[in-house]
Amino acid sequence: MTKPRNILVTSALPYANGSIHLGHMVETIQTDIWVRFQKMRGNNCIYVCADDAHGTAIMLKAEQLGITAEQQIANISEEHQADFRDFLIGFDNYHSTHSEENKELASLIYTRLKENGKIASREITQAYDPEKEMFLADRYIKGTCPKCKADDQYGDNCDNCGATYSATDLINPKSVYSGATPVTKESTHFFFRLPEFTDFLKQWTRAGHLQDEVANKLAEWLDSGLQEWDISRDAPYFGFEIPGESGKYFYVWLDAPIGYMASFKNLCDKTDGLNFEDYWGQDSQNELYHFIGKDIVNFHALFWPAMLSDSGFRTPTKVCVHGFLTVNGEKMSKSRGTFINARTYLDHLNPEYLRYYYASKLTNRVDDLDFNLEDFVQKVNSDLVNKVVNIASRSAGFIKKAGGILSSNVENPELWNKFTAASEVIANYYEEREYSKAMREIMALADAANEYIAEKAPWTLAKEAGNEQLVKDICSQGINMFNVLMTYLSPVLPTTAKAAEAFLNLSLDWKAAPEYLGEHEINKFKPLMTRVEGDKVEAMVDASKETIQAKPEKKQDENSWLAKEPVADEIEFDDFAKVDLRVALIKNAEHVEGADKLLRLTLDLGGETRNVFAGIKSAYAPEDLIGKHTVMVANLKPRKMKFGMSEGMVLAAGPGKKDIYILEPNEGAQPGMRVM
Ligand code: 2FM
Ligand code: ZN
Repeated sequence: MTKPRNILVTSALPYANGSIHLGHMVETIQTDIWVRFQKMRGNNCIYVCADDAHGTAIMLKAEQLGITAEQQIANISEEHQADFRDFLIGFDNYHSTHSEENKELASLIYTRLKENGKIASREITQAYDPEKEMFLADRYIKGTCPKCKADDQYGDNCDNCGATYSATDLINPKSVYSGATPVTKESTHFFFRLPEFTDFLKQWTRAGHLQDEVANKLAEWLDSGLQEWDISRDAPYFGFEIPGESGKYFYVWLDAPIGYMASFKNLCDKTDGLNFEDYWGQDSQNELYHFIGKDIVNFHALFWPAMLSDSGFRTPTKVCVHGFLTVNGEKMSKSRGTFINARTYLDHLNPEYLRYYYASKLTNRVDDLDFNLEDFVQKVNSDLVNKVVNIASRSAGFIKKAGGILSSNVENPELWNKFTAASEVIANYYEEREYSKAMREIMALADAANEYIAEKAPWTLAKEAGNEQLVKDICSQGINMFNVLMTYLSPVLPTTAKAAEAFLNLSLDWKAAPEYLGEHEINKFKPLMTRVEGDKVEAMVDASKETIQAKPEKKQDENSWLAKEPVADEIEFDDFAKVDLRVALIKNAEHVEGADKLLRLTLDLGGETRNVFAGIKSAYAPEDLIGKHTVMVANLKPRKMKFGMSEGMVLAAGPGKKDIYILEPNEGAQPGMRVM
């Protein structure tokens, strides 16, 4: 056994002035999967985060809401933590940059940098709002574009023509707060002497802490010369006052990454045996991983290692950079309803769907990730529900019938070896953040397992006496393969993994390659995951639209003939006697491409096979139906439907949606028997 690694992991701290959206979730899901993977492999992995609570935007947001900044950050912290919790993000600690720990650490780091001569100060001239009595960053000034003359443009670039300029170039500039015309004013600012770290950073950025593409981008900046970094802001500002200066505050980005340390310090103070120095001390051998988006690379891969290295702390082991989220191939948009808040998603859909979908697309590169809504429905249903869960649901019944104890015989050793041999390959993909490759590998195994079961067809074997052991061996192998698949998937699907543990009557364990379970008792199988419903996705998009548009007319229901209330005119017995009701075996059930409500059933009438479309998709997954007996109208004239001929009709009862129950004759019924 190798020694467990000690790893501290962070994801970027969300600002305390806005809600979490699905863009944030790319990062926290990516990080959480990595952390869960490390924990499963037996490593000591600690995941901390916090809210990024300082800065002008938060101060103004609170003002706008008529509350204190402290109240604003308390409210948002609660909202953020609930969103993350419901997306199954397993932080070990969630703190705030507006905390005692952060204040102390920020002061300590600043003081050390200052003692080392790394802080400069000088006068700068800036735009100033004389009414509001505050300095104005460029984005808080609006006016007419100097180039195309479009009105109401921000002080740094024009939305209309794309020109970039500085606020002083704007025609007729106005403060966005008060509408006053800004004046210019001088004040003293403090600067971090970043250029002095050029050699250190040239070496550090090439020492394996960054993806190559990130290092290449930074090399461009390093080669064109670094600038000193302005780390102070004048009052009024919501943040920490700079020690020894009055009316001067740390710029939000100075104390934001220190918030990682502060959150960890806060955790140490409440955890026996967890020592701050072990993780942050200059000589720490423990690992430190930051997961961030590509827009904040300069803060994490230049300023941050430079600050740490000069103030007596260790630098990160790795900064892992991901790209942005697009939805249906485009930037998230409020008018299209694709700017989706975490809570809006959660109101409609299961968090594990998104965790799996993101995992199936995440690589260790900086590429953007596209959330394609159609592909999402299709992929989750086909991979998780139809492939993985199906293996358990197809095998479980036979094992239960045989007493609930698995067989220790490996029925197909070659196939089993494939499952165990994949352990290291998949683990390596997780370690390298190549989740899409890991998911592909896992789904290839699921395909192999399903092919094996379909080929062996235990439901056919079970009909003949003498096959009991073989059926048990096959289905035991099915359950063993399911156990392995769920082990490999558990970093992505923590809730389903828990449900699988209850069914399998064990704890999923991935410290080493999986072993055959032997004569092990399993519990009753309960459906582990339901299908993604397209209308839920639509409802989520509708709920995300800034302006609610009139709903399109309801599509013609492709199955209205089943959903309609019956027209119950009285009939003669002779009419009833004309209906040929038969017991049918559901040999196969599958989804119908493009149909919202229908499943295609292949029914065995004891020698004759029928193709029937049934409007029961909202209530049954195909795999739940295969092998069941039901009752059908066998002499209904074949009807041509949009998706093909329907040769009969199955009988079902219930008000609709999830509550549709196909009629199931009791055990002795055989396909083809007349129902009287
Ligand atoms: O870009 C952002 O959303 C920042 N709030 C991230 C801060 S990450 C860390 F440095 F605190
Ligand atoms: Zn313009």
